[in-house]
Amino acid sequence: MMKNIKKDFPLFQNYKSLIYFDNAATTQKPQQVIDSIINFYTKHNANVHRGVYSFSETATTLFNNARKKIAKFINADVNEIAFTRGTTEGINLVALSWAEKNIFAEDAIIISQMEHFANLIPWQQFAHKKRVRLLIVPITNTGELDLKTYQDFLSNNKVKLVAITHISNVLGTRNDVEFLTQEAHKFGAKILIDAAQSVAHEKVDVKKIDADFLVFSGHKLLGPTGIGILYIKYAIAKDLAPVEFGGGMVKQGGFEKSTWLEFPYSFEAGTPAIADVIGLGSAIDYINENINFDALKKHEALLCSKLIDGLSKFPRIKILGPIEQLKKNGHIVNFVVDGIHAHDVAAYLDKHNICVRAGHHCAQPLHQVLDLDASVRVSFYGYNNEQEVEFFIQKIEEMLKKL
Ligand code: ALA
Repeated sequence: MMKNIKKDFPLFQNYKSLIYFDNAATTQKPQQVIDSIINFYTKHNANVHRGVYSFSETATTLFNNARKKIAKFINADVNEIAFTRGTTEGINLVALSWAEKNIFAEDAIIISQMEHFANLIPWQQFAHKKRVRLLIVPITNTGELDLKTYQDFLSNNKVKLVAITHISNVLGTRNDVEFLTQEAHKFGAKILIDAAQSVAHEKVDVKKIDADFLVFSGHKLLGPTGIGILYIKYAIAKDLAPVEFGGGMVKQGGFEKSTWLEFPYSFEAGTPAIADVIGLGSAIDYINENINFDALKKHEALLCSKLIDGLSKFPRIKILGPIEQLKKNGHIVNFVVDGIHAHDVAAYLDKHNICVRAGHHCAQPLHQVLDLDASVRVSFYGYNNEQEVEFFIQKIEEMLKKL
């Protein structure tokens, strides 16, 4: 049974009638996370890794403890995770560091049609610059990856990297990343997993997946914005040259030449987002203490089922994702309404205090494949409930009668 967690989120206390269905864009923050940031700035604020005074040492301890918690949460070692600004920066850093040194003209990178801009544009730009082939795995008519084409791409090309999303931010499709990884490794390719849409909803275990690179953002995980994680398997990270330079990453500095600390410090030049790292650590504490991932999955899948069944009654509505999969383990439902633009649907719902995202959701090429310019996305988290879904369906029914 999913515990009632809504009371822990002050935004819902301030706006009692708000129905927040845009969790794939960002999640709300529990009081505990907000308090941890206020607590840091009001009681412990000092820079980390620099001072020998006790205030700085306390700040450093809080910061290091957060790194330990975050590493443990995804079953990584502390020296395998670097702090970034978010998923996007993590992917760009892999392109600028590992890919730059290991992928050359005529090699290939595999992505898929369901990638967010964050996991498409860095590779597209890299491919143009280095004359690398970008192979794009198509989706099936149920919105899942075409695995046969994936395997063909791996067998017939010199693939150096697979960069793929764990869960599509548009269709809600959950990819079997363990299988994708095994296949990539069989052909000597490395794999990067974009876990932005999965890490708050299920146990993501980098060792079980055997990912080489994995990225996510703190703000989709009940934490603050501006902080994210780049996981790199130690065997790769230990030899990786940095791409940004400055204080905090230098081992021995001189006017002529300098040497660097090891990963992750080599990837963390400058003062880090200390309070946000601590806030993300607190979000992980909150999840560990209050959220059972099995119960969360069941709860979100129940909400998806209820929504899909409700929307399916209306012939003008078309649901885009893999319906059967979403009813079993989804948290995102995307749809279009015949004769009403997605923006107008979202604006209508907004009048009734319902927040959904409308547009191409930073996945414009996927919408081109689907022959759409926009869609409406409902994305759930553990604080949403069945009554909200019922109210939502009622408002959609009213809208269809009016527009
Ligand atoms: N990546 C976020 C989304 O899908 C912003 O909404």
